[in-house]
Amino acid sequence: MYIAGQEEIDAIARVIRDKALFRYGVGGECDRFEARYAAFVGTRHFALAASGSNALAAALIAAGLGPGDEVIIPAHTYMATATSVLAAGAIPVIVDIDESLTIDPEAVEEAIGPRTKAVIPVHMWGTACNMDAIMTVAARHKLIVIEDACQGVGGAYDGRKFGSIGLLGCFSFNYYKNMSCGEGGGVAVNDDVLAERVRCAIDPCHFYWQGRSDAAQPFSSNGARASELMGAMLNVQLDRIDGMVSAMRRERDLILQRTGSLDNLGLKPTPLNSPKDDCATQVLYTLPSADQAENFSRLFPSVIAGKTGRHNYTEWDQVLQGAGAAHAALNPYNLPQNAECRKTYSKDMCARSLEILNRTVMVATHPLHSDQEIEDTIHNIGTAARVALAGLPAEEADLRAAAPVETQKFDLKVTA
Ligand SMILES: Cc1ncc(COP(=O)(O)O)c(C=O)c1O
Repeated sequence: MYIAGQEEIDAIARVIRDKALFRYGVGGECDRFEARYAAFVGTRHFALAASGSNALAAALIAAGLGPGDEVIIPAHTYMATATSVLAAGAIPVIVDIDESLTIDPEAVEEAIGPRTKAVIPVHMWGTACNMDAIMTVAARHKLIVIEDACQGVGGAYDGRKFGSIGLLGCFSFNYYKNMSCGEGGGVAVNDDVLAERVRCAIDPCHFYWQGRSDAAQPFSSNGARASELMGAMLNVQLDRIDGMVSAMRRERDLILQRTGSLDNLGLKPTPLNSPKDDCATQVLYTLPSADQAENFSRLFPSVIAGKTGRHNYTEWDQVLQGAGAAHAALNPYNLPQNAECRKTYSKDMCARSLEILNRTVMVATHPLHSDQEIEDTIHNIGTAARVALAGLPAEEADLRAAAPVETQKFDLKVTA
């Protein structure tokens, strides 16, 4: 979610004026952000990268995952969760989500085979995965847990920040995320050696600038270094995140409370694993059928989770087609070490997920929504539900026009 103002412009202008765009030696913004964000998440380390995709790949590589390993991922996530597994040379095994739109811990346990080494729970739409259940399954089967918190910046599960519960946690700061510097990402981790391996995976030459211990041997990897422009912008964005998330939680809770009576028409709040602490970037409703979800979202501009175009496994062409790398000899699907991994996919393999996704609608919250805009949303949800689910004649629907949210006011300040 793009919210940026004069503070970001000033911070970036300072970096440009100082000619200090490189993070090592001349800068200081990335170092400062890494220390602050690690403290914010509650881990010993945080390593910035050029994107969330790079962060995920670095986390998998640092954890030692590679050819011969299966990594369980959910059917509903951005495709980078899957492609990062392939970037490490391992094979993604796709399993069902449950009504919370996050990975179903039972599906994880059922999918574990002799080659399974890790699981990536994804805190989709800023909501929480059922981390207690996932950590229990993971401990029982000795799986590594890497949290994909790319959509969950600022959120937490039961008091613990997303990204601090598994062995490693990955974040994105791209244009659409709760904190943004255009593109960016990073990895949160406690273990010192793992942190060094993450830094090596992000920038194989980082030892030159940051030194290294004997415990972490360097290895070759592709560069994904962050710039000081990113660090400068993120340092400003971090000051706002708590205020933004609490505004979104307030809006989500108010909408859910005021639309609670529509439950008996079929507009059921989606079950959430940690509503008190998650990001609340969306108000989620689970409807009785896909047809009703379509009818509802036609009247009230909302997104059907199954129709986002890129967050469901059915859209991940490279994965479904076994195109795991540009070069055939590097394609994890062709590697002899992966011969015993499960790598057959089909568009209907997670039919249960598709069924849930096609009847879940999402209404976006926004920290800058005014009380009047929230009132209008509540009114429109009620009207759309009565037409779509209770047969109120469409001509009687008095829907209010929604105003576009102004996110580029330079006097902007969102405080905790
Ligand atoms: C769940 C999830 N994982 C990973 C990513 C990848 O992040 P990036 O776009 O910064 O590479 C995204 C980005 O949309 C995402 O939503």
